[in-house]
Amino acid sequence: MKLIILNNENEVAKKTAQIIGDKIKEKPRTNLGLATGSTPIKTYEYLVKMHNEEGLSFKNVITYNLDEYCSLDQYNINSYRYFMNQHLFSKINIKKDNTHFPDEDNFDVYDSLINSCGGIDLQLLGIGVNAHIGFNEPSDAFSLYTSHVNLSESTIKENSRFFDTIDEVPKTAITMGIGTIMKAKKIVLIACGEKKEDAIFHLIKGPIMPKYPASVLLLHPDLTIIVDNKAARKLKNMEEKCKIT
Ligand code: PGA
Repeated sequence: MKLIILNNENEVAKKTAQIIGDKIKEKPRTNLGLATGSTPIKTYEYLVKMHNEEGLSFKNVITYNLDEYCSLDQYNINSYRYFMNQHLFSKINIKKDNTHFPDEDNFDVYDSLINSCGGIDLQLLGIGVNAHIGFNEPSDAFSLYTSHVNLSESTIKENSRFFDTIDEVPKTAITMGIGTIMKAKKIVLIACGEKKEDAIFHLIKGPIMPKYPASVLLLHPDLTIIVDNKAARKLKNMEEKCKIT
């Protein structure tokens, strides 16, 4: 595991976009796993900038998003398809047919779809305050496959900031499973702000347990965690455990 601690959200986004951009330059037909939420928005801004100013091309990139709410169609401003269109897809030269989301109709074939294209080359992840990844909520077991899940009270509360009222937040979603995520060849997890300090602490300190879903990532052979100072606040004296840059 490689841990990169940077000064602020902007530096985290820039570094993350550089890693994604380098992967696309190395392999134009990259299979990219993408995340939604507040944290990756700035990373997407940098990718758009790299597209506009440096000619970074997404023509052959294929994307697989981590998750999607049930019961919100793609035109709903809170759906993750809408989010990705708004922040990234409409601003770059990606082909719509190359962008994939798990949904209620395809979730049982999402993993085989990913496998059949050769697997995810780089998976971008955020992390929930409860250490969820995708919508894999704290539970008694790690989920293996893309599946239909009930959102935890804490996630519903957390995500209600995007809705007019908490009652409008869907209670269920489709998410890539932990097993699906762990199969990605490279994983980059980003987190910013003090509200993520506990989640990052549990991720890095362990123990690996489904109560902290992200903790399983410690077993991944190519994991990079990029955080700002605030999210790293509880990581003092942990230099031996991680290669800190
Ligand atoms: P956030 O969400 O970036 O909006 O904090 C992260 C997540 O829940 O994965």
